[in-house]
Amino acid sequence: TSRGTKMDPQAPGCEPLVPEAADGALQRRPGDCGAVRSMEAAVQNGVKGIDADCGGSCSCATCHGYVDVAWRDRIEPADAVELDMLDFAYMRDEGSRLTCQIKVNDGSEGLLIRLPQAQA
Ligand code: FES
Repeated sequence: TSRGTKMDPQAPGCEPLVPEAADGALQRRPGDCGAVRSMEAAVQNGVKGIDADCGGSCSCATCHGYVDVAWRDRIEPADAVELDMLDFAYMRDEGSRLTCQIKVNDGSEGLLIRLPQAQA
């Protein structure tokens, strides 16, 4: 049966990261999302500001976002490759991550990611 989802088949029923009306931040809504990556969830929902030029292979930094301070210790930390690539991110700060490297799953309900102004 069709569940009418826009997400990929690996994440049926997923209610992924969606833009918040107020400031354009992305927030992980409740729901069974499997393990998709933030960038993929956002791109599939037409979020402006995530170009993801490299398709998620951690080599472009056009999926840069700022993880809310409450979430920085609750998601997997950036690895060395991501940290190197973040050097190319515009307006990098302590919350900067490449959203293609952040997994969203059941444990990340409420995850909040803001996008850089220049990227939005
Ligand atoms: Fe290129 Fe994330 S999509 S680094």
